[in-house]
Amino acid sequence: MVKMILNADIKKGKINKNIYGHFSEHLGRCIYEGLWVGEDSEIPNINGFRTDVVEALKKMKIPVLRWPGGCFADEYHWVDGIGPKENRPCMVNTHWGGVVENNHFGTHEFLELCEMLGAEPYICGNVGSGTVHEMQQWVEYMTFDGKSPMADLRRANGKEEPWRVKYFGVGNENWGCGGNMTAEFYADQYKRYATYVRNFGDNKIYKIAGGASVDDYHWTEVLMREAGKQMDGLSVHYYTRISKDWSEQGSATEFDENHWFSVMQNALFTEELVVRHSNIMDKYDPEKKVGMIVDEWGTWFAVEPGTNPGFLYQQNTMRDALVAGIHLNIFNNHCDRVQMANIAQMVNVLQAVILTEGKKMLLTPTYHVFDMYKVHQGAELLSLDFESPEYAYNGEKVPQLSASSSVDSEGKIHVTICNLNPSADVNIDIDLRGVKSKSSTGKIITSNAMNAKNTFEETTNVTIKNFEDINLENNHISGKIPSKSVVLLEIV
Ligand code: AHR
Repeated sequence: MVKMILNADIKKGKINKNIYGHFSEHLGRCIYEGLWVGEDSEIPNINGFRTDVVEALKKMKIPVLRWPGGCFADEYHWVDGIGPKENRPCMVNTHWGGVVENNHFGTHEFLELCEMLGAEPYICGNVGSGTVHEMQQWVEYMTFDGKSPMADLRRANGKEEPWRVKYFGVGNENWGCGGNMTAEFYADQYKRYATYVRNFGDNKIYKIAGGASVDDYHWTEVLMREAGKQMDGLSVHYYTRISKDWSEQGSATEFDENHWFSVMQNALFTEELVVRHSNIMDKYDPEKKVGMIVDEWGTWFAVEPGTNPGFLYQQNTMRDALVAGIHLNIFNNHCDRVQMANIAQMVNVLQAVILTEGKKMLLTPTYHVFDMYKVHQGAELLSLDFESPEYAYNGEKVPQLSASSSVDSEGKIHVTICNLNPSADVNIDIDLRGVKSKSSTGKIITSNAMNAKNTFEETTNVTIKNFEDINLENNHISGKIPSKSVVLLEIV
């Protein structure tokens, strides 16, 4: 029996809803086919956006959406993606499959999509191959209200009023695909480019500096030391894989407990990354004004057999659901520093929440975790103390449980719990303190098999079900958390 103490009167800070953010890159079938099919498509669409996908995304309540990359961002020239579609020049998407990009999805389309979804746009600018002037003009084009060459061009392209664009990234992975820079060189470049990312009218831009790869703590140190005062957020990227060795990709669907365990271990490593990058940020920013922006995270496995290796299309199983639940619990629990996170990527790429095939669409196990966890968005983190039992495998151990808890504006308490063990259930007893609770209900995502997945033929193999196996008595909630499950408890 695992005893948990939930202190409903100990609030530990607001969970920024942007922790539940997403990422959409011009990569494979994310934008084209996944989100955008064009007005003339046989697939039902609203102004070219797939109706089914938009409706599913709306239900999930996406707070913020990052675009256009990723590596694509540092070779994207925004002027190629505005104006009449037939006049937009093509480009080669050199990072992702070498395919020809026709630029039919550009600034107007992205910002219209954000409006449809009710999501804040997070645009990533081009530092690697773009100019300061180009970045400056993009911001002016989108956000300037008065009369100027860029604002007039926007009006000529059919948008009278400026958009509100809050989040702007100054480059992506500038240690790699974004220009192969050193931290010292990028820190200077960041300051130079960011200077010209202007606030027009009351549109105040939250500027995000390109951050470290995984555990490159030197990068965070240099950026905070040299440019910490000129940024609002600093990013970090980390993908969960079966191994640290990139040549070992592992299948997304065909795996044994060995790969299951290493993926759990590697997902939990995110906690160490968040803590260690935070410690460095604390040194330069003890008041925590600069947000940690985990703007790329998620699983990265081998592509589905027979698909273009440059498109990063992978299936999604119960294992991915656990990875999502673990990450979101970690981000919630570190909401003092983590202000945004963007899972990679929204549709048809890496740990996608939605997969499409022609007219067909499916919601992945990861979708259901985001849907279930949305109750934490904007809520107050609560203190939840417990000592997790261990999940041991092959001489190694990880905690069996991952959890977080919050209280929303209506006073409803939510606890999300992941059981990482694929074969052992665990009994819990939650001692509710600081609140007199009247009732509790539960939801669960689980399956019989570690690699259970949804397919275009069977779309509901892994989905949210009611969780009845809990009991509220004397302000204690007891129940059995099944193996390989993600559970939500609601307490009122
Ligand atoms: O998400 C896929 C790629 O991973 C992104 O384009 C890049 O930023 C990262 O390396």
